[in-house]
Amino acid sequence: MLDFTELLPLLDHSEHRSGQELATHFNVTRATIHNCIARIETLGIQVDSVPGRGYRLRTRLDLLDQADIVNNLTPEVTSSLHTIHCMQQVDSTNTQAANLSLPPVSTFSVILAEMQSAGKGRHGRTWVSPYAANIYLSIVWPLQRSLHEASCLSPHLAICVADALHLLGLSKLGLKWPNDVYCDNKKLAGLLIECSGELSGACKMVVGLGVNVAMKNYSNIQIDQQWTDICSNAPNWQLTRNELASLIINALVEGLRSFENKSLPNLVQRWAHWDVMESTSVDVYAGKQTQSGIARGIDDNGCLLLETEQGVERISVGDVTLRGSA
Ligand code: BTN
Repeated sequence: MLDFTELLPLLDHSEHRSGQELATHFNVTRATIHNCIARIETLGIQVDSVPGRGYRLRTRLDLLDQADIVNNLTPEVTSSLHTIHCMQQVDSTNTQAANLSLPPVSTFSVILAEMQSAGKGRHGRTWVSPYAANIYLSIVWPLQRSLHEASCLSPHLAICVADALHLLGLSKLGLKWPNDVYCDNKKLAGLLIECSGELSGACKMVVGLGVNVAMKNYSNIQIDQQWTDICSNAPNWQLTRNELASLIINALVEGLRSFENKSLPNLVQRWAHWDVMESTSVDVYAGKQTQSGIARGIDDNGCLLLETEQGVERISVGDVTLRGSA
């Protein structure tokens, strides 16, 4: 059985490859090649098939490459890299990362994938993860501080991602509490932070990030919220996914390091710079409870400040819907 991940690297976007040539290469029948091409097309990758000439990709594929990603990490981040895994297809990079052994203190492991079959979002949602279109990565970090202290990590790391994307030239960026990255009022990226271990002792923290990069072929995909991607917002975008992945890993690892060193710059002000909810009427869902009020930024611990009729409430967990300007 020929796997599509073996065939894809042999397909080109500038030249046709004949079915017979590919069949000979893999020592399979032309029907097997045909079926494998059909599988590739189900992933949203468009393949032109011309009788007598063969198969050609309609657009160039921008595939992940482990060596390229490592080459673009900063020397400081490279020196703390324990392991890196670049996978083709996984259920969820967060699930895979949670199964890795805990890296030594002050080092990290990272898993990236071309595609997730069961990508996880916050609050049990699914994270739609088509092949070779976006960034799906998870960093495993041995947390040295208590989980209680880590409550500010969600907004802090979201700020690190927004700062990095802004430096790359993306505009109209914003953050929705606790860690959604928005662009032009639609969701561009999301973080899912999961921990296992002791409440007060060593804890394995998995920081998962999904960034929509090039979703043009998936515009009909069903997602339960307004979403966007980098390429629609930056038409002159030149970075490969490898370069983008490295820059994001650099930003997240530096963010995790500054958290461990207790050298977090002013969280409240940095959040205010990107906050898309400030002074907006919002509903906050936590379990079966809904609280409504006006968003008034966050506190030093990363809690949402919600102005209600009873006064200002500090909210540590919840899912927020914006209702409009107050
Ligand atoms: C959210 O905003 O709901 C969080 C989305 C997190 C998605 C990323 S993609 C890589 C990592 N693996 C997962 O299964 N989820 C996170």
